[in-house]
Amino acid sequence: MKNILVTGGAGFIGSNFIIYMLKNYEDIRLVNLDALTYAGNLENLKEIEGDGRYSFIQADICDGETIGEILKEHEIDTVINFAAESHVDRSISDPEIFIKSNVLGVSTLLGAAKRLWEKEGGGFKEGVKFLQVSTDEVYGSLGPEGFFTETTPLDPHSPYSASKASADLLVKAYYDTFKMPVNITRCSNNYGPFQFPEKLIPLMINNCLSLKSLPVYGDGMQVRDWLYVEDHCRAIDLVARRGVPGEVYNIGGHNERPNVFIVETIIDYLHEKVDSAIDRSLIKHVEDRKGHDRRYGIDPEKIKNELGWEPTTAFEDGIVLTMDWYLQNRDWTEKVTSGEYQKYYEEHYGK
Ligand code: NAD
Ligand code: DAU
Repeated sequence: MKNILVTGGAGFIGSNFIIYMLKNYEDIRLVNLDALTYAGNLENLKEIEGDGRYSFIQADICDGETIGEILKEHEIDTVINFAAESHVDRSISDPEIFIKSNVLGVSTLLGAAKRLWEKEGGGFKEGVKFLQVSTDEVYGSLGPEGFFTETTPLDPHSPYSASKASADLLVKAYYDTFKMPVNITRCSNNYGPFQFPEKLIPLMINNCLSLKSLPVYGDGMQVRDWLYVEDHCRAIDLVARRGVPGEVYNIGGHNERPNVFIVETIIDYLHEKVDSAIDRSLIKHVEDRKGHDRRYGIDPEKIKNELGWEPTTAFEDGIVLTMDWYLQNRDWTEKVTSGEYQKYYEEHYGK
């Protein structure tokens, strides 16, 4: 039996991860610790709510005392940290909360995990791991050629990516200094069910469905490397179980697409399937994001060669699965975007 603390498990990737793990393992206990910010929604976990292997605790990763108690009470051996402020645009308008959750929070979590690990004798033991879910954005921006490898120097540009890079350095320091069994994963852009509709793909789907304009930043030729969320979850599970302590693993599936291509793909599908009024005239080029990274592209050779990971969902299939999910779950979108998010959206884009 493995006892795993998942932090940020009510968010997009964390909730997909919890559902993935409960589907794939019998002998497991998962504790989901989440502060339930605007991005955390227990709606995402409705299908596993009554599962005896799962429990939820509302808490902040900056609260070391509570985390210490949870680690002890639930005899946690693996910590997987998804908790973070994750939206680049918000980090540009309000950087402070990113430093608090993404840097101070990770430092607090590491400290609590270290105290328990030391009490239990330290060292490397099977199943004992601290995994920090990081991002390809810590590497900065690429030109038209080449890919990010695990040895690409860190060169973050936004307050979000700078906060994630800072956390990575702290996690690395716990390996270098204490030999704590840590891993860092750096994945490219995820998409799939339960992604909060402030991010490109769900935002464009929802705006199409309500015939709102589609705000494309700048020329829309920025490139992101898209990965279906379940492929990311499988990679995290592999790294947690079999990753070599102290190592970083890049995760990505060579699915690079310019933003306008993504937007047009969504328009064309919904035009056919939902409403012929959804068309390319909805695209509105708006002011570019400040400090906007031009291109991300992951080299996933290390995780492929060392852990045998490969993505299984092609972009062409994953994007259709995702659009269909949002079509079938319009009530989810309504629930999660009411309140605080609505105010934020109207301030930025108007009604
Ligand atoms: P998300 O914003 O959907 O979810 C974040 C979750 O963390 C929410 O449930 C929120 O309530 C919780 N949270 C925030 N601050 C907290 C705090 N101080 N204490 C406890 N809980 C807190 O984010 P996501 O897209 O699911 O991303 C999860 C992780 O994966 C993040 O660390 C992000 O940096 C990383 N990541 C995301 C992507 C992507 O494309 N979305 C790609 C690579 C890496
Ligand atoms: O690369 C991994 C990162 O991917 C994660 O670490 C972040 O948590 C996650 O939010 C995501 O960051 P991006 O900034 O790449 O994702 P976002 O969906 O915000 O934007 C994707 C691209 O689309 C980016 O180039 C900005 C552009 N964009 C975004 C929005 C919301 C638009 O053109 N218009 C929009 O309205």
